[in-house]
This record gives sequence, C-alpha cells and structure tokens, in this order.
Amino acid sequence: MDTAVDTTATDFATLDEVREAALAVLPSDAHDFLEGGAGEEATLRRNRNAFERWAFVPRVMGGLPSPSTTTRFLGVDLALPVLTAPFGADGLFHPDGQVAVGRANAAAGTASIVPEAGTYSLEEIAAAAPGAAAFGQVNPLGTDEGFLAMVRRYERAGYRGLCVTCDVPIQGWRERNLRNGYLPDHRLFGGNYPSVEHALGQLGQLLEREAPVWSWAKLGELLGQSRLPWIAKGIMTPEDASAAVATGARALLVSNHGGRQLDGQRASLDVLPEIRDAVGPGIEIALDSGVRRGADVVRAIALGADVVVIGRLAAYGLAAGGEAGVARVLELLRAEITTVLTLLGRGGVRDLTPDALTRVEVGPVSRGHRAGGGA
Ligand SMILES: Cc1cc2nc3c(=O)[nH]c(=O)nc-3n(C[C@H](O)[C@H](O)[C@H](O)COP(=O)(O)O)c2cc1C
Repeated sequence: MDTAVDTTATDFATLDEVREAALAVLPSDAHDFLEGGAGEEATLRRNRNAFERWAFVPRVMGGLPSPSTTTRFLGVDLALPVLTAPFGADGLFHPDGQVAVGRANAAAGTASIVPEAGTYSLEEIAAAAPGAAAFGQVNPLGTDEGFLAMVRRYERAGYRGLCVTCDVPIQGWRERNLRNGYLPDHRLFGGNYPSVEHALGQLGQLLEREAPVWSWAKLGELLGQSRLPWIAKGIMTPEDASAAVATGARALLVSNHGGRQLDGQRASLDVLPEIRDAVGPGIEIALDSGVRRGADVVRAIALGADVVVIGRLAAYGLAAGGEAGVARVLELLRAEITTVLTLLGRGGVRDLTPDALTRVEVGPVSRGHRAGGGA
C-alpha cells in the first residue's frame, strides 16, 4: 500500500487516479466505510452501470467552441452544474474535512451541501467558505426542538437553503462495516451537536433500528416555520416526488444514497426521467448516486436534472489531497464536461435535452471501479 501520496498534489491526470490515490491512503475500515454499500451492493453496482445504458447522440459541425457550464440552483449561481454531497465523518478522509471541500467549491464557483453529522460545525464551514456553504443538510430525527435548532443555525449562518435527508430513518444494512465492527468516532460526526451524548443519541437512533419515522405532515409543519427553501433528498419514486412537493419542497434530490441505504432498488439515473415527468419543469431536480465523471454529469442533465451532486468523488479528492484534491476533481470534471458537450455538439449544460441520449442494451458490466473495494 502506497501511503506516500503528496497531500498538496494537484497533478492527477484523471478522476480514476484521484480515486486510486484516495483508496491507497485510507486504512481498510475507512476505505470500506467510503466505498461500501448496503446489503449485497446490488444498488451500488446498478448506480454505475445505469450510466453506460445511455449512449450519446452526437451532432457534428454545429457546436459552439466553448460550451457553457454555468447554471443556477435554488437561486444560487454555479459555474459548474455540480454540488458536493453532504458526507458526514469528513475528518476521516482529511483533517480539514468539509472546510477544505467548501474552500475548493468557493474557488471553483460551485457550492457544498454541508452535512449535519460532520466533523466541523456549520458555522465554521460558512466562515471558511462564505458563498460556497450554500445548503445545509438536516436529519428529520430526534426531537422537534433539536431539528428546529439546527434549522435556525443554518438560517443565522447565511445558508441559502436546506437539504432534508428523507431516506435515513435508520441506517442501511452495511455489511462491510458490520464485518469490520466499524463506527466512526463521535468527534468525526459530532461537530454540530452540543454534546457527546447528543451526538451518540443521534447515531443511536440510526443504529438501534427503532426510531420513529417522521411523516411528511410533521416535516411540513416544522419546515413551514423557516423561510429557507428546501430540497427533499432521497426521492426515488414519482409518488414521493409529488408528496415532497405537496409538503413544500422547492427541489428534489433524486438519490438512493449512493447505494448505502436500501439495497436492491433501482439506480437513481433510471428513475430520474419518471420523476421529471411527474413534477414537470417547475421543480428543480438534483441527482446523485454513482456520478464518477463528466460524461455522467452530462447524461443526468440531459435526462432532466438541473445539477448533479457528488459524494464519493468529492471524498476521493479530499482523501487524496485535501482542498487541492477536491479542486482537482472539480477541474477535471469541468474539462470532461466541456469536452463532452463540444463533441456532442451542444452549446451548454442548459441546452441539454433528452434527445442527446438514446437507450442501448449492454451486457453485464462492472465499470469505473477497477481496483479494490469490489464495487
Ligand atoms: C462517507 C459518506 C458519508 C455520507 N454521509 C451522509 C450524511 O451524513 N448525510 C446524508 O444525507 N448523506 C450522506 N451520504 C450520502 C451522500 O450525501 C450521497 O447521497 C451519496 O454519496 C451519493 O452517491 P455517490 O457517493 O455515488 O456520489 C454519505 C455518503 C458517503 C460516501
């Protein structure tokens, strides 16, 4: 195992190289925590394979020389149609955690969804990367007062919207972690909680598998007390998309949590067109789960997403080189996206429509994860 990765390295030539460098520096239990999915990891594999089933339909001799990557999501201007996912226990991957992610996003003109269960407090991240700490994630768990207190802190710290994680009433059945006996230290996920007991209480709810599951009605009542627009994260059916919108969600994050929650469900990319059809053009949609390269971003946007959210890809950058590593991931994504758009003959990410893609059959494939992790 090579542990001699230069933490200031920005010279990774490809996104795969960033991943390889990240996995080489992480101890095996942290590696499994990052790479693993739930159950037999069928959804984890499906998330990747789904992208290959959408082939590009190029148009030649008509494109623009420098396609635009700018967009806007929930009122936030973005230089790249990419947000970083709320991934907690971020200090596990690099001592600077989400502070480094926020700074890299600020430099790239994009934004973070900051996790509730992170290593740093939401105020520290906002102070380090003011514009880029745009969205704050909350867990609909625990007491109403605890939930509202977190919402108020995001408001006071200047966040522009909330992201409500709807698909984690309990933690998924993560066999790699069970085998390793792995649980992140409370200091890694407790940056926002007022005490160690509070942090352990939140984790306990997820692991004991007995937590009361919140309803849309309860969520709507509590979020109705905030002026911030919110994104419903973890939406995988048209029915839940409609319920979230009826509850007041201004945007949806189509996501199966990167295959970490309910194993055996479909790829998020495969449900995206149905969800776009169900909610129409007026609701903004983000997509995550399985995005590993610029071509994946282009495909998701062509199928109806406004922006794409990267979880593991951002964590690879963080582990491989801290802020510089995340910056390199964003830079490589930008270069890949503009290359694909030019070759596809489309003027910019906002011009992408479903006719840029066609469905193809492919045999059993396992792509994008060459070494280690078995994913
Ligand atoms: C290490 C790790 C920690 C995560 N922690 C959280 C979290 O605290 N809250 C949350 O809503 N999602 C969390 N997620 C899920 C991500 O927000 C996102 O949905 C997922 O990573 C997307 O899939 P991808 O990793 O294939 O990009 C986590 C993901 C990873 C990999």
